[in-house]
Amino acid sequence: MSKRYTITAALPYTNGPIHIGHLAGVYVPADIYSRYLRLTGNDVAFICGSDEHGVPITIKAKKEGVTPQDIVDKYHTIIKTSFEDFGITFDNYSRTSAKIHHDTASEFFKTLYDKNEFVEEVSEQLYDAEGNQFLADRFVIGTCPKCGNEESYGDQCENCGTSHNATDLINPKSAITGNIPTLKETKHWFLPLNKHEQFLKEWILEGHKKDWKPNVYGQVKSWIDDGLRPRAVTRDLDWGIPVPVEGGEGKVLYVWFDAPIGYISATKEWAARKGKNWEDYWKKDDTALVHFIGKDNIVFHCIIFPAMLKAEGSYILPKNVPANEFLNLEGNKLSTSKNWAVWLPDYLKDFPNQQDVLRYALTANAPETKDNDFTWKDFQARNNNELVAIFGNFINRVVVLTNKYYNGVIPGPSDLSSVDQETLAAVKAYPSVIASSIERYRFREASQELMNLARLGNKYLADEEPWKTIKTDEERTKTVMFVALQIASALSVLCEPFLPFTSAKMKNILNSRDNSWDNISSKEILLPAEHQIGKGELLFSKIEDAQIQVQLDKLEASKKANEVANKAVEPQKKEITFDDFTKLDIRVGTILEAKKMPKTKKLLVLKVDTGIDTRTIVSGIAESFKPEDVVGKRVTVLVNLAPRKLRGVESQGMILMTENESGDLVFVNPDIKDISNGLKIS
Ligand code: MF3
Ligand code: ZN
Repeated sequence: MSKRYTITAALPYTNGPIHIGHLAGVYVPADIYSRYLRLTGNDVAFICGSDEHGVPITIKAKKEGVTPQDIVDKYHTIIKTSFEDFGITFDNYSRTSAKIHHDTASEFFKTLYDKNEFVEEVSEQLYDAEGNQFLADRFVIGTCPKCGNEESYGDQCENCGTSHNATDLINPKSAITGNIPTLKETKHWFLPLNKHEQFLKEWILEGHKKDWKPNVYGQVKSWIDDGLRPRAVTRDLDWGIPVPVEGGEGKVLYVWFDAPIGYISATKEWAARKGKNWEDYWKKDDTALVHFIGKDNIVFHCIIFPAMLKAEGSYILPKNVPANEFLNLEGNKLSTSKNWAVWLPDYLKDFPNQQDVLRYALTANAPETKDNDFTWKDFQARNNNELVAIFGNFINRVVVLTNKYYNGVIPGPSDLSSVDQETLAAVKAYPSVIASSIERYRFREASQELMNLARLGNKYLADEEPWKTIKTDEERTKTVMFVALQIASALSVLCEPFLPFTSAKMKNILNSRDNSWDNISSKEILLPAEHQIGKGELLFSKIEDAQIQVQLDKLEASKKANEVANKAVEPQKKEITFDDFTKLDIRVGTILEAKKMPKTKKLLVLKVDTGIDTRTIVSGIAESFKPEDVVGKRVTVLVNLAPRKLRGVESQGMILMTENESGDLVFVNPDIKDISNGLKIS
């Protein structure tokens, strides 16, 4: 039965490009869901847009010496293009700086104001006297009152996900100047969440215990159990939507008040373009509203936005909020500031036209129930062992053999064997198996069922061996190829939500574009005898180790750069006199021999010509240098250091070392020619 759906995907902040974490957590699952619903004949509005307000954008603008508008214009375009490139089929991708959004959000605020749904209160807020600015949200950092994370932001702790008021932070500090804030009085409008507690309990804790994901339900429950308090929905900032009521001059709406209303504005914009009624998608009880988000957005979508919608009174509430956990990258948290990420524009440069590979790898390994790790090795394996070896291989064999044996004209079958009949019956079961996983938001499982159908095709070919029967039994071969072509056709339709680019290619190759999802189980024949198919085309190609190494090297470079950036310059040591200094006898020397100290990891035993003598020095550099690399090296040696025994070997001096920019140990070497050993350094 066809239904109306409003599907939203979290509006990305426009202060940077998007990376694989965003794609895996929000946009790919939302796109699979939307494509599936369209394929099964539903009326879908798939909505997203750029979240262009908020403090991080103003901070970034200040840092780069440009305006916030410059920042959002730049990233809006980059992000929008990435979504198009990866086949994310938003019906509308809008932005919160659009006039329609400013109007919609203002009107929403005014409605709540007129209905007395806000509490207006003058209170003391954190203020940076030097920066001449109130400190809210990301302008202030302090200790999270809930989990003790010392780097919590004013409105939300990224460690535990709790959303709080800036004044709740312990030991707050201005993120602009580092100053300890003072308090200053200011007026704001608060949404009294406490007033909606009963409704939220009944609606979620009682009403959605079974159908919402445990990670989502659990977070909401813990929030409600802690007790809900009024939340300020306005801010003393100059970037955002002006507060549209008396006394609101110089203030703007809190970004988390305006952004979710962006879903509504974007729907309005789309409906106007399409000649539809936007209210059908937001105000009719038989519309299913589903929010796709990451776990850090749970409280906003499950508590604050629903409380706003309820207070307004004419809107529906979400049917489900299938939030995902986080994706890590090679064992570490994805991080924009540390450049620990795979940016979508970069991926496409390195893997042109391989969007489906990333979509598939991210889906098969999606962080649906717990945080998950993306590794390049896994990505390579998903491609080589599944997309190439199973899916691509099956389609390729079917297409090549049909062209070779029958010039691409589908042969008519004779009697179907029981294996043929069972195979065709098994194919017919797949649409509902995959649909059931998708409808329960289990996209990983759904992608594996799709792969199972390709496996079934491969097994059928391997068992029936048409390449052998072609020599002995032409009729049987025709039947086998006919059956295999039906499987190929089913795959071309069922893979569309997951592998849209591949699906389009397959439909071209099979010269068949009209089968629907439901046809696969309802129609006797998907590709009839006598139908002419096209030539083959490579669907997937093997990804080599060298390509993976390039990616790993990039990450290694980020890691090194971070280490350097994080290395604080050590404070100067206590003052010494000139006499103290002259006590040090530092000479130029040359390493003559080197060997590893047995049974140690770090130590090399060196023979060093100091100009005075040749002596033994034990040096802790074996993790950075092989013995053969250091022989012949000119070095700087502290020669009058009291000898000491290391693992039974007496070390008679010390070689001076430092670290280079990448954090590797390097010799402090007298980089001068024509200089002899024993020369003093002073
Ligand atoms: N910009 C937010 C983020 O990236 C998400 C906003 S979702 C919306 O975390 F509901 F506010 F639109
Ligand atoms: Zn916390």
